[in-house]
Amino acid sequence: MQPPNIGDIAPDFVLSTGRWLSDVRGAPVILAFHEPGWDPARADEIEGYRHLIQAGEEPQRVLVSNDEPAAALYGAARESAVFVLDGRGRIAWRHVAGIDPVESAAEIAALGLQTNGDGVRTAWSRRGFVATAIGAAVALTLEPTFGRAQTAAAQLPSGGTTTGAAVGDAVPVTLNVNGQTITLNLEPRVTLLDALREYAGLTGSKKGCDHGQCGACTVHIDRRRTLSCLTFAVMQQDKKITTIEGLAASAGATGDSLHPMQQAFIEHDGFQCGYCTSGQIMSATAMVGEPWGPGDDDVREAMSGNICRCGAYPGIVAAVQEVRRNGGGQGR
Ligand code: FES
Ligand code: FES
Repeated sequence: MQPPNIGDIAPDFVLSTGRWLSDVRGAPVILAFHEPGWDPARADEIEGYRHLIQAGEEPQRVLVSNDEPAAALYGAARESAVFVLDGRGRIAWRHVAGIDPVESAAEIAALGLQTNGDGVRTAWSRRGFVATAIGAAVALTLEPTFGRAQTAAAQLPSGGTTTGAAVGDAVPVTLNVNGQTITLNLEPRVTLLDALREYAGLTGSKKGCDHGQCGACTVHIDRRRTLSCLTFAVMQQDKKITTIEGLAASAGATGDSLHPMQQAFIEHDGFQCGYCTSGQIMSATAMVGEPWGPGDDDVREAMSGNICRCGAYPGIVAAVQEVRRNGGGQGR
C-alpha cells in the first residue's frame, strides 16, 4: 500500500494503549514506524533534539513496530517511516525511508518560509514547527547509523560538505580527518567524538563513558593521543586528526594492509568483544613514540587510561611489546 500524502486524513488504528489514533486529537502527534530490531533506547535521543530546538511543549509520540498490521496502512510494512499529524488528524509532514528525504530542523524552518503555489508566503506556527522538527529528529534516530555512515563516506573522497543534523546555532566546522578535509555543520558544543561518529560517519572511535574515563574514544590529534569525547570539534580545526579508520594508511599501508599494531593485536589475542580495541590501538601506537621504559609494567602504566572490560590486558601488553621490539610502526 502507498503511504498517505501530506494533507490526507491519517488512517485510523488501535494503539497499544487500546485507544484509537483518532481519539488523540487536538495536539500534534508524531507517528513513527520502526523496524522490530530497532533499539527503543534510541528514542532517548529524541529528547536531546527537543532540547536543541528548545521545545517547551512536546507533541505526543506514538512508536509502532513495522511488523504490526497498522504499518501496512501507512505503506511502512518494510520501511521506517515518520508521520506528523496536526491537531485535526491530517498528515502535516512525512518521511518514509527510501521515498522522502530527512530534513533537519533548520531545513524545515526554511521550508516554512517558502512561498506556496498561490504565491502566498507560508510560515510554520511555533507548534507546527516544533512538531515537524521533532518528527525529523525521530526520522533521524530511525535511520540506521550505518546508513548515515555510508552517506557521509560517499561524500568524504571529494572533500565535500555534509549537512549533518543542523539544528540550533550550527556553524561550518572544517576538519582534516585521515588526510581528507571535510566540512560539517555543527553546534559549537558538539564533541569531536560525536562529530566523527554521528556527522562524519566514522564510527571506529567508540563512545564508552563519554567522560574521559575509559579511553575507547582515543584518536590522534597532531600525532598525540587525545580523548575525543573531551574536546570540541570546533577547537580542532587546522589540526591533523587520525582515527582508527586512517591509522594503517598513516603508516604507509596500502589496500587492506593493517598497521603493525593492528596485526600484533590479532596475533596476540589483544581483544575479546572488541569494543575498546580501536581506542587501545590508537593509544598504543602513540605510546610507542613516547618516552616510556622498556618493561611490561611501563606498558601497563602507559596504557592505564584505556580500560578493557573483557580483561584482554595480557594480550594487549604482549602486542605492544612486540611492536616496540620491532621498531614501532608509529605512523599516525
Ligand atoms: S568515551 Fe572518551 S574516555 Fe570514555
Ligand atoms: S575487548 Fe571487550 S572491552 Fe576490551
